[in-house]
Amino acid sequence: MASLNTYLIFMLLFTLLSFSSEATPTYSAHYCDNSTSFTPNSTYQANIKTLLSSLSSNTRSSKNGFYNTTAGQDPNLVYGTFLCRGDVSANLCQHCVANAINEIAQRCRMEKTGVIWYDECTVQYSDQNIFSISRQVPGMDNSTSASITDKDRFNQLLVSVMKILENRAAYEDKSGKRFAAGEANFTSSQTLYSLVQCTPDLTNELCFRCLQSAIATLPMCCDGKQGGRVLLPSCNIRYEMFPFYNLNGTGSTVLVPSPSSPNSTKAILCSVVLLFVVRA
Ligand SMILES: *[C@@H]1O[C@H](CO)[C@@H](O)[C@H](O)[C@H]1NC(C)=O
Ligand SMILES: *[C@@H]1O[C@H](CO)[C@@H](O)[C@H](O)[C@H]1NC(C)=O
Ligand SMILES: *[C@@H]1O[C@H](CO)[C@@H](O)[C@H](O)[C@H]1NC(C)=O
Ligand SMILES: *[C@@H]1O[C@H](CO)[C@@H](O)[C@H](O)[C@H]1NC(C)=O
Ligand SMILES: *[C@@H]1O[C@H](CO)[C@@H](O)[C@H](O)[C@H]1NC(C)=O
Ligand SMILES: *[C@@H]1O[C@H](CO)[C@@H](O)[C@H](O)[C@H]1NC(C)=O
Ligand SMILES: *[C@@H]1O[C@H](CO)[C@@H](O)[C@H](O)[C@H]1NC(C)=O
Repeated sequence: MASLNTYLIFMLLFTLLSFSSEATPTYSAHYCDNSTSFTPNSTYQANIKTLLSSLSSNTRSSKNGFYNTTAGQDPNLVYGTFLCRGDVSANLCQHCVANAINEIAQRCRMEKTGVIWYDECTVQYSDQNIFSISRQVPGMDNSTSASITDKDRFNQLLVSVMKILENRAAYEDKSGKRFAAGEANFTSSQTLYSLVQCTPDLTNELCFRCLQSAIATLPMCCDGKQGGRVLLPSCNIRYEMFPFYNLNGTGSTVLVPSPSSPNSTKAILCSVVLLFVVRA
């Protein structure tokens, strides 16, 4: 009997613990710029270490999920930032940045410039000033997700949703996070969930242009796919057919109206062409 009670108490504690623990941050991609490298045990390497631990210890003090700092002195100065997704809690942000820092130290062993993307945060460092500059080095994540039926209509909906979110994040976001997320109905049973985010150190215009170039990449990575993302150092976009962000997170979640039917556009174009043919 005693052992059964112990067992029950154990199970109860275990259940409570599993419910209170946060979701685990998920690695997505990384990029180490091997055009510049440092020597082992150099001052630059020591500065990267200082920089990363400084990023890690400042997740709590960040108001908008973003932080930029430097470590060391010229010519061994290192610039670094972290960015947490607009809807994640301070706990998950801290957890994600800590994981990302460990992981980037393992993956970019010799490179002076590195970026690592997790679902919930991005960490980067460089020997060049990366603050307030829009950076669009490769970081595309080619989607492996299943294809969608009715591809043309889907692509059209996706682009119109992305354009709405791009404007919100660049020009209308009052949270200071440069983040926008929204849902749109594709079919009666399929909902499209999308988000866009820039680093908050960019100007409105730079944010807009970064997102614009990310959106322009969608046909290359994600044409007709049920999910995809474009990861750049200064901004990123993602969409899925399931909710992958916390819908309650920031209040910036929006209902996006469906675009007009493609057929009506075609019909108008057709009549314009016909009109010209008739007049000619
Ligand atoms: C850098 O990485 C690219 C692609 O991974 C590779 O083709 C190239 O040889 C590497 N360059 C150096 C100097 O390691
Ligand atoms: C770097 O430092 C470590 C520990 O201090 C040492 O084991 C290693 O041999 C050094 N590497 C080089 C290339 O100097
Ligand atoms: C963060 O970046 C801004 C420029 O965008 C700069 O003025 C500021 O000094 C940086 N902060 C740190 C701690 O380096
Ligand atoms: C992604 O797909 C595009 C088009 O199919 C291709 O050109 C590109 O090389 C791919 N990139 C990666 C990183 O696999
Ligand atoms: C989201 O907010 C609604 C209403 O404020 C609440 O009922 C719901 O439980 C919340 N969901 C989550 C996952 O926090
Ligand atoms: C999506 O469909 C549901 C039910 O069919 C409806 O309640 C909701 O308002 C629709 N959302 C949008 C953005 O049209
Ligand atoms: C749109 O046009 C396609 C053919 O181009 C047709 O199969 C489809 O039924 C049309 N949809 C609507 C809503 O009219």
